[in-house]
Amino acid sequence: MNKKLLLISILIVLCLSILSFVIYKKSQTTPQNNLQEATGLQTEVTLSDLRTHITPDDCWIVVDNNVYNISPYISVHPGGREAITQYCGSDATEAFQKRNEKGPHPKNASDFLNTLIMGPMVTK
Ligand code: HEM
Repeated sequence: MNKKLLLISILIVLCLSILSFVIYKKSQTTPQNNLQEATGLQTEVTLSDLRTHITPDDCWIVVDNNVYNISPYISVHPGGREAITQYCGSDATEAFQKRNEKGPHPKNASDFLNTLIMGPMVTK
Protein backbone atom coordinates (compact mmCIF):
# COMPACT_ATOMS: atom_id res chain seq x y z
CA MET A 1 0.00 0.00 0.00
CA ASN A 2 2.82 2.38 0.96
CA LYS A 3 4.64 1.45 -2.23
CA LYS A 4 1.58 2.35 -4.27
CA LEU A 5 1.32 5.71 -2.51
CA LEU A 6 4.98 6.42 -3.18
CA LEU A 7 4.59 5.59 -6.86
CA ILE A 8 1.58 7.87 -7.20
CA SER A 9 3.46 10.68 -5.44
CA ILE A 10 6.43 10.29 -7.78
CA LEU A 11 4.09 10.39 -10.77
CA ILE A 12 2.38 13.55 -9.49
CA VAL A 13 5.74 15.28 -8.89
CA LEU A 14 6.89 14.27 -12.38
CA CYS A 15 3.71 15.60 -14.01
CA LEU A 16 3.98 18.87 -12.07
CA SER A 17 7.62 19.29 -13.11
CA ILE A 18 6.77 18.79 -16.79
CA LEU A 19 3.83 21.22 -16.49
CA SER A 20 6.01 23.89 -14.83
CA PHE A 21 8.66 23.46 -17.54
CA VAL A 22 6.08 23.90 -20.33
CA ILE A 23 4.59 27.01 -18.64
CA TYR A 24 8.07 28.46 -18.11
CA LYS A 25 8.99 27.92 -21.80
CA LYS A 26 5.73 29.54 -22.97
CA SER A 27 6.30 32.58 -20.77
CA GLN A 28 9.66 33.11 -22.47
CA THR A 29 7.96 33.80 -25.85
CA THR A 30 8.06 37.54 -26.49
CA PRO A 31 5.21 39.39 -28.24
CA GLN A 32 7.52 39.82 -31.25
CA ASN A 33 8.06 36.05 -31.50
CA ASN A 34 4.30 35.58 -31.37
CA LEU A 35 3.91 38.00 -34.26
CA GLN A 36 6.55 36.16 -36.26
CA GLU A 37 4.89 32.81 -35.62
CA ALA A 38 1.45 34.13 -36.53
CA THR A 39 2.36 36.08 -39.64
CA GLY A 40 5.77 34.84 -40.73
CA LEU A 41 6.75 38.51 -40.57
CA GLN A 42 10.38 39.24 -39.73
CA THR A 43 11.69 42.53 -38.48
CA GLU A 44 14.38 42.60 -41.15
CA VAL A 45 15.88 40.34 -43.82
CA THR A 46 19.57 40.48 -44.62
CA LEU A 47 21.20 39.64 -47.93
CA SER A 48 22.55 36.39 -46.48
CA ASP A 49 19.02 35.43 -45.30
CA LEU A 50 17.70 36.13 -48.79
CA ARG A 51 20.37 34.02 -50.49
CA THR A 52 19.25 30.90 -48.62
CA HIS A 53 15.79 30.94 -50.25
CA ILE A 54 16.61 30.20 -53.86
CA THR A 55 14.50 27.18 -54.82
CA PRO A 56 10.86 27.13 -56.11
CA ASP A 57 9.77 25.39 -52.88
CA ASP A 58 11.49 28.05 -50.81
CA CYS A 59 11.65 31.18 -52.94
CA TRP A 60 12.08 34.68 -51.53
CA ILE A 61 12.25 37.71 -53.82
CA VAL A 62 12.80 41.42 -53.27
CA VAL A 63 10.40 43.98 -54.74
CA ASP A 64 10.89 47.64 -53.84
CA ASN A 65 13.15 46.83 -50.86
CA ASN A 66 10.66 44.41 -49.30
CA VAL A 67 11.19 40.66 -49.14
CA TYR A 68 8.38 38.27 -50.14
CA ASN A 69 8.04 34.50 -49.80
CA ILE A 70 6.63 33.84 -53.24
CA SER A 71 6.67 29.99 -53.16
CA PRO A 72 2.90 29.50 -52.66
CA TYR A 73 2.19 31.66 -55.73
CA ILE A 74 4.66 30.22 -58.25
CA SER A 75 2.44 27.38 -59.50
CA VAL A 76 -0.56 29.67 -60.17
CA HIS A 77 1.26 32.67 -61.65
CA PRO A 78 -0.45 33.67 -64.94
CA GLY A 79 2.95 34.61 -66.38
CA GLY A 80 4.37 31.13 -65.76
CA ARG A 81 6.71 29.57 -63.18
CA GLU A 82 9.98 30.49 -64.86
CA ALA A 83 9.12 34.23 -64.88
CA ILE A 84 9.41 34.15 -61.09
CA THR A 85 11.75 31.24 -60.26
CA GLN A 86 14.70 32.84 -62.03
CA TYR A 87 14.57 35.56 -59.37
CA CYS A 88 14.43 33.35 -56.26
CA GLY A 89 16.94 34.74 -53.76
CA SER A 90 17.36 38.03 -55.61
CA ASP A 91 15.87 41.41 -56.51
CA ALA A 92 12.89 41.14 -58.88
CA THR A 93 11.80 44.80 -58.70
CA GLU A 94 12.56 45.63 -62.32
CA ALA A 95 11.12 42.35 -63.67
CA PHE A 96 7.94 42.80 -61.62
CA GLN A 97 7.52 46.34 -62.95
CA LYS A 98 8.31 45.51 -66.58
CA ARG A 99 6.37 42.20 -66.75
CA ASN A 100 8.34 41.05 -69.82
CA GLU A 101 7.68 44.40 -71.55
CA LYS A 102 3.91 44.10 -70.96
CA GLY A 103 3.98 47.01 -68.51
CA PRO A 104 3.41 47.06 -64.76
CA HIS A 105 1.42 44.28 -63.10
CA PRO A 106 -2.18 45.25 -62.29
CA LYS A 107 -3.12 46.22 -58.72
CA ASN A 108 -4.38 42.74 -57.85
CA ALA A 109 -0.83 41.42 -58.32
CA SER A 110 0.63 43.95 -55.85
CA ASP A 111 -2.22 43.28 -53.43
CA PHE A 112 -1.47 39.57 -53.53
CA LEU A 113 2.25 40.19 -53.21
CA ASN A 114 1.59 42.15 -50.00
CA THR A 115 0.02 39.09 -48.40
CA LEU A 116 3.35 37.26 -48.81
CA ILE A 117 5.61 39.82 -47.12
CA MET A 118 8.43 38.61 -44.88
CA GLY A 119 9.85 42.00 -43.94
CA PRO A 120 12.01 44.87 -45.21
CA MET A 121 15.35 44.17 -46.86
CA VAL A 122 18.32 45.54 -44.94
CA THR A 123 21.80 46.07 -46.30
CA LYS A 124 24.40 45.05 -43.74
C1 HEM B 1 9.15 38.49 -60.50
C2 HEM B 1 8.99 38.59 -61.79
C3 HEM B 1 7.70 38.47 -62.51
C4 HEM B 1 7.60 38.47 -63.85
C5 HEM B 1 8.75 38.59 -64.86
C6 HEM B 1 6.21 38.35 -64.19
C7 HEM B 1 5.71 38.31 -65.46
C8 HEM B 1 4.38 38.25 -65.79
C9 HEM B 1 3.86 38.21 -67.13
C10 HEM B 1 4.70 38.20 -68.39
C11 HEM B 1 2.52 38.21 -67.04
C12 HEM B 1 1.55 38.21 -68.19
C13 HEM B 1 1.03 36.86 -68.49
C14 HEM B 1 0.11 36.89 -69.69
O1 HEM B 1 -0.77 37.76 -69.76
O2 HEM B 1 0.33 36.08 -70.57
C15 HEM B 1 2.17 38.23 -65.64
C16 HEM B 1 0.90 38.25 -65.16
C17 HEM B 1 0.56 38.29 -63.85
N1 HEM B 1 1.42 38.24 -62.80
FE1 HEM B 1 3.43 38.25 -62.91
N2 HEM B 1 5.48 38.27 -63.04
C18 HEM B 1 6.36 38.34 -61.98
C19 HEM B 1 6.01 38.28 -60.66
C20 HEM B 1 4.73 38.26 -60.17
C21 HEM B 1 4.38 38.28 -58.79
C22 HEM B 1 5.40 38.29 -57.66
C23 HEM B 1 3.02 38.30 -58.70
C24 HEM B 1 2.12 38.31 -57.51
C25 HEM B 1 2.41 37.85 -56.34
C26 HEM B 1 2.51 38.30 -60.04
C27 HEM B 1 1.17 38.31 -60.38
C28 HEM B 1 0.67 38.33 -61.65
C29 HEM B 1 -0.73 38.43 -61.99
C30 HEM B 1 -1.89 38.54 -61.00
C31 HEM B 1 -0.80 38.41 -63.37
C32 HEM B 1 -2.07 38.50 -64.23
C33 HEM B 1 -2.23 39.93 -64.61
C34 HEM B 1 -3.47 40.19 -65.43
O3 HEM B 1 -4.57 39.92 -64.96
O4 HEM B 1 -3.28 40.68 -66.54
N3 HEM B 1 3.57 38.28 -60.92
N4 HEM B 1 3.32 38.26 -64.90
